[in-house]
Amino acid sequence: MTSSRSILDRAPVIPVVVVENIDDAVPVARALVAGGIPVIELTLRTSCALGAIEAIASEVPEICVGAGTIVRQEQAALAARAGAEFLVSPGSTESLLKAMGDTGLPHLPGAATASEILFLLERGYKELKFFPAEASGGVKFLGAIHSPIPAARFCPTGGVSMSNVGEYLALPNVGCVGGSWLTPSEVVKLKDWQRITGLAREAAALAR
Ligand code: 3PG
Repeated sequence: MTSSRSILDRAPVIPVVVVENIDDAVPVARALVAGGIPVIELTLRTSCALGAIEAIASEVPEICVGAGTIVRQEQAALAARAGAEFLVSPGSTESLLKAMGDTGLPHLPGAATASEILFLLERGYKELKFFPAEASGGVKFLGAIHSPIPAARFCPTGGVSMSNVGEYLALPNVGCVGGSWLTPSEVVKLKDWQRITGLAREAAALAR
């Protein structure tokens, strides 16, 4: 297993991006970098996601590009081949962990219960995605889990936004959060890259 510590420490927010049009990938990545966010997670939910990772990896080397929504074993190797530098899964199975581990890339496996967290700690993971964060108890859950399971550190994702991000980042067991609010689909459709830079700047200034 490769350590994923550096992923949680790159920025207060990992932008979770669903790219519908491959031509938007590079401008979105550049807009995030301009706003001070040097990391991007492309979800493998659209047909152009792997191509988007490839384009960003070759044209925006200053950003750390990752692949999210790894839900099938084969996606891990495909994402690695496209140039992903880290992998994120919404949940954890033995075979997904093996496939992500086999790439040699840092990866954040998903967990949403005490049992899932313990399962991953037993396998040597200390840094996890907490997903879906708001639907799974949010700040209250993470606050409550810290005392019995202090070894786990999280990237909560799912329902996190500017209105609650401060509460998450104030928790001792949160390294960063993930969220799609930095790259709203309507803003991407309008190709309003300055707006994305503005949202990224706001996120980059968050205290951890
Ligand atoms: C994810 O893919 O990790 C989440 O769906 C992002 O959740 P959000 O859209 O609520 O930020």
